Amino acid sequence: MPPTSPFATLPKAELHLHIEGTLEPELALELAHRNGVELPFANADQLRAAYRFENLQSFLDLYYALMAVLRTESDFTELAEAYLARAAAQGVRHAEIFFDPQAHIHRGVDLDTVVRGLRAALSGARERHGVSTRLIMCFLRDQSEQDALAVFEAARPWFGEAVIGIGLDSGEIGHPPAKFTELFRRAREAGLRRVAHAGEEGPASNITDALDLLQVERVDHGVRCLEDPRLVERLAAEQIPLTVCPLSNVRLRVVDTLAQHPLPRMLDAGLLVTVNSDDPAYFGGYVADNFHALAAEPALDLDPETLRLLAANSFKASFLDEEARSGYL
Ligand code: HPA
Ligand code: ZN
Repeated sequence: MPPTSPFATLPKAELHLHIEGTLEPELALELAHRNGVELPFANADQLRAAYRFENLQSFLDLYYALMAVLRTESDFTELAEAYLARAAAQGVRHAEIFFDPQAHIHRGVDLDTVVRGLRAALSGARERHGVSTRLIMCFLRDQSEQDALAVFEAARPWFGEAVIGIGLDSGEIGHPPAKFTELFRRAREAGLRRVAHAGEEGPASNITDALDLLQVERVDHGVRCLEDPRLVERLAAEQIPLTVCPLSNVRLRVVDTLAQHPLPRMLDAGLLVTVNSDDPAYFGGYVADNFHALAAEPALDLDPETLRLLAANSFKASFLDEEARSGYL
């Protein structure tokens, strides 16, 4: 995206962003050096060259492996601080940020280290960067529900002010929403907001099940909803937000090319679509870069008004209360 791109200043909320997916190669190498973690990459170019993915799992393998460099509270603070600076420069005014507690706990980094570290950056983000923030704790669907429940219970002291919701991510194939009904029941009972990745690589039925079995309020990705016309009707009628991530979909081969991305068809169907960056350090762009790429693809035929609507949708689809939301629009 050129620095003069109009999308850098278009106010927007980012609703689908994994903080671990903002780990740029340079910071990963610096943290590896500082923490004495050996990585099989000598420099940032070598690391970047590994960012060629066949599918979601081939990305996740590298994503989890690189997390090894994140060890201390201040590592997480630095990671989040770097994201916030970039986000502000991309016109982000509000960010609902995912993190993956299990991916850290399983390698011996405790939950409090992660949350305290992230919070140190997020708590002053409004003053320093003009970005309001919320945290959403994601659970790894390729792990057991029992493991998720143990982490959920350990995180209770953070619920409310620090962590406002839960999500579901990681490998979708073979790990349907039905596996996590108790987790989401407890989240509802605890008054937490609920989202889930569904219909990225997995079938449209995962979206239906996330709505019916998990009672999610927003669907992450959701691009495969178009395979089920009745589901599309329901998503449109209920105005359930979908957090679409175009550059991610291309890099993970959910779509063959950006020109073939279903976003225009989703808008035509009346869906509440938002544009997000997912794991921007890995997928070649932050959120304004995603807007820019969409606008620059003639086959998608998105006019400036539609792009402004997509940005306005991001506030509408956020978990901000009505009053805060209207302040951004
Ligand atoms: N899909 C599933 N899990 C993830 C993703 C994604 O795009 N990014 C980080 N974890
Ligand atoms: Zn994601």
